[in-house]
Amino acid sequence: MNQAVRHVYVHFPYCLHRCGYCDFATTVARVIPRERYLQQILTELELRTADQPLAPLETVFFGGGTPSLWGPAAIAAVLAWLQQRAGFAQEPEITLEANPGALESGDLAAYAAAGINRVSVGIQALQDTRLRALDRLHDAAAARQTLAQLGELLAQGRLRSANADLIFGVPGQTMLDLRADVAGILDYGLSHLSAYSLTVEAGTPLAAQVKRGLAARPDDDLQAAMLDALPALLAPYGLARYEVSNYARPGHASRHNLAYWTGRYYLAVGVGAHGFLPQPGAIGVRYGNTRKHEAWLRALAAGILGEDLRETIDADQHQDERLLTGLRLNAGLDLQALAADLGDDRRLALLQRAAPALARGDLWLRDGHLGVMPAALARLDSLIAELA
Ligand SMILES: C[S@@+](CC[C@H](N)C(=O)[O-])C[C@H]1O[C@@H](n2cnc3c(N)ncnc32)[C@H](O)[C@@H]1O
Ligand code: SF4
Repeated sequence: MNQAVRHVYVHFPYCLHRCGYCDFATTVARVIPRERYLQQILTELELRTADQPLAPLETVFFGGGTPSLWGPAAIAAVLAWLQQRAGFAQEPEITLEANPGALESGDLAAYAAAGINRVSVGIQALQDTRLRALDRLHDAAAARQTLAQLGELLAQGRLRSANADLIFGVPGQTMLDLRADVAGILDYGLSHLSAYSLTVEAGTPLAAQVKRGLAARPDDDLQAAMLDALPALLAPYGLARYEVSNYARPGHASRHNLAYWTGRYYLAVGVGAHGFLPQPGAIGVRYGNTRKHEAWLRALAAGILGEDLRETIDADQHQDERLLTGLRLNAGLDLQALAADLGDDRRLALLQRAAPALARGDLWLRDGHLGVMPAALARLDSLIAELA
């Protein structure tokens, strides 16, 4: 595999409020230690790049939590460090996740001036009843305000791309509601949409409510019907599906996420962040930082990494990961790239295992790519298990 590391993920774990469905590494702090967190992110970058140099970066992703609460100066400081130590490839993609609302999204123009050229905003819904059901802090008016700001920054060329996250299949939501959400968001000229079906994650307040009968469980059939309907709802806006949950105008697919989904190496820093780096004698190493934010802060203050996971990835595991993500792509899994990275015998063995599903019409094989037929997307997990 090409050993260059050209992608960096920076996790900012703080949120103003914990949404009932969310299982991400987030912390609701009374006072967000913005400066302390920045210093420790820079310390982690120093520690992790001491024995793993970075190539000129193609993508940087500030995810959360709510990194739009960090402030443009902190984002600029991280980017300045990366510029000095690694530099950037031509036209890098630099993404900031933001939440709607003036308080949470901050000054998006200032973030653009700090070097952000792609914003991903967690709209989730454009109806107050559903936003309340999702336990979100923002309302539809705040969502529209942030979308309008994004539309303006795109039109002025101060941002290159903008994404909205949408959650569908919320109990009570109809197909008409979904259509209205999509139209409401894309009328602002966004270039990308991520649409996720509501998942009840174990251990969340939503899971407890469902268990006690206080909240309805999402309906699988309705979610499958909505997943089916989305491509046609988005086509009039020029967005096409390129991954099961992701839609973009031509040239606006997320290069950072595509790097994950095609098995590239990436450095990740921050509370709960997971990275994948080259390792001599293996395909690579996957590491994970602790999700306990105080423990992470303490470790970095002592000049050590706050890791609680480190796993050597061999060729079998890497192939499984490539299958898992590659088959979710509309372009399918690139078999030539797999053969180049892991050997041609693996490509041939995979094709043999794929033969029954190809014969059934569940998979397609074209131009050296193996993909899932749209009608079989709902059975993606069992297809992947069949090929692994
Ligand atoms: C970790 S969040 C970060 C973005 C931002 N803080 C926000 O909430 O808008 C990334 C996205 O994952 C999606 N997500 C998180 N938990 C989910 C769940 N249980 N079911 C469906 N989508 C979920 C939401 O669409 C969310 O915008
Ligand atoms: S704002 Fe985003 S990251 Fe924070 S709790 Fe809500 S869904 Fe999770």
